[in-house]
Amino acid sequence: MAIQWFPGHMTKARRQIQDKLKLIDVVIELLDARLPVSSRNPMIDEILQGKPRLIVLNKADLADPLVTKQWIEHFKQEGHMAVEADASSGQGLKEIPRLAKELFKDKIEKQISKGINPRAVRALIVGIPNVGKSTLINGLAGRKIAATGDRPGVTKGQQWIKVGTEMELLDTPGILWPKFEDQNVGYRLAVTGAIKEEILNVEDIAFFAVKYLVRYYWEPFQARFELAEEPQDYEDSDEIVAVMEAVGRKRGCIMSGGRVDLEKASQILLRELRAGKLGRYSLEAPY
Ligand code: G4P
Repeated sequence: MAIQWFPGHMTKARRQIQDKLKLIDVVIELLDARLPVSSRNPMIDEILQGKPRLIVLNKADLADPLVTKQWIEHFKQEGHMAVEADASSGQGLKEIPRLAKELFKDKIEKQISKGINPRAVRALIVGIPNVGKSTLINGLAGRKIAATGDRPGVTKGQQWIKVGTEMELLDTPGILWPKFEDQNVGYRLAVTGAIKEEILNVEDIAFFAVKYLVRYYWEPFQARFELAEEPQDYEDSDEIVAVMEAVGRKRGCIMSGGRVDLEKASQILLRELRAGKLGRYSLEAPY
């Protein structure tokens, strides 16, 4: 569900997360492995108030594996624990309770030294809409939990979900908003489908995607649409539009008079890209 984020929603969402922080030991910050910066909330450090945090780069199955490795390294260098996952297949999920417990280690040791039986580590998943929060909760729970919907401001009764014997998860995730000020962030989110196309123009989104694919993923792009020659200059708008037209011709998007229907071509291109038909790609790299 698309959310219109207004300042009032942000304040409410933030307050809800901060209420939940009181109940938990560690935060699982979910980012999209293809765009970990653009899918990150700009105020996350302030919102989490120093709570121990595990960064999970989700949808790693769709991202460029080499770039994902670089991101993990980058976050580790920043002092964060980070891991990649594919919440829809369950790949990488086993690591999460183990790492969450690791983040809670000092407290567990303290409890043991006081003769107290250590309790399960309590965690909260946070992330922007569509990053895979519900899928991850279901994957960790090993069953389907009722969908919560992306409505900031909706309060629900909290429940703990047991993940094995060592972790408990709040059943409602913390919903965060992405960074809106930077237009490129909006385009990156739109390319992956995280922002609905009604908000940005589909041809503009496809133009942004094509420019990026020409620059970084020319070979799989060329192979998929049997494109002729590589554009000389990815900054040249005419060359990028010519590639979009070639994609449109390949997919039969021709209007009366023989002109390419760029809107239709853009929709097809984005659909194929999101479905992974052009292979794995990342839209941001740390280096
Ligand atoms: P949210 O709670 O954060 O809003 O996200 P949600 O779990 O609803 O996931 C959003 C979409 O992303 C879903 O697809 C979900 O299947 C997909 N998804 C989540 N995690 C992964 C992952 O690790 N890899 C891949 N490839 N996809 C993932 P959808 O098209 O909206 O729904 P559906 O096709 O699952 O029905």
